Amino acid sequence: MKKWMVLCLLLVSGMGMVVSSQTDRSGLKASMTRGKQVYDRYCLTCHQADGGGVPRMNPPIANTEYVLGSKQRLIGIVLNGLNVPLEINGEEYENPMASHAFLKDQQIADVLTYIRNSFGNKASAVTVAEVKSVRAKNK
Ligand code: HEC
Repeated sequence: MKKWMVLCLLLVSGMGMVVSSQTDRSGLKASMTRGKQVYDRYCLTCHQADGGGVPRMNPPIANTEYVLGSKQRLIGIVLNGLNVPLEINGEEYENPMASHAFLKDQQIADVLTYIRNSFGNKASAVTVAEVKSVRAKNK
């Protein structure tokens, strides 16, 4: 009798794990789909459809330390814009990027999850909670 109970518990918790990893994956997919819409509307004109940017004007966002590195710094770039001379892949960039703080936390999380997993990039998702916390510290 006891063995059965243990077995049932194992089965139920195993099923729970499968279900939760599936929701993780479909959550990521939904975030990627929404993120692409934000990207196409607010970032594409400068950073281009393939994330390649425009040489010496708008830096690429494919395989850069800013996109793949610290999420706090990346969220900060969207919230505050950026105005520092950058050198990326041997090209220099001096044009400023304007703040996009008008985007909602969800939109920022989605667009950053999207760019961190597009154009050959592969990095962890950005959550709404992470955006909220950077925005709170910004004030
Ligand atoms: C009007 C053009 C423009 C728009 C729109 C724009 N950017 Fe930028 N972005 C730039 C420029 C120019 C820089 C370089 C700024 C500097 O040198 O200080 C930059 C820098 C960056 C960087 C850091 C450098 C790199 O290439 O990794 C990231 C990340 C980034 N932008 C993401 C975004 C995202 C996400 C959006 C949309 C929410 C966006 N940008 C919208 C022009 C733009």
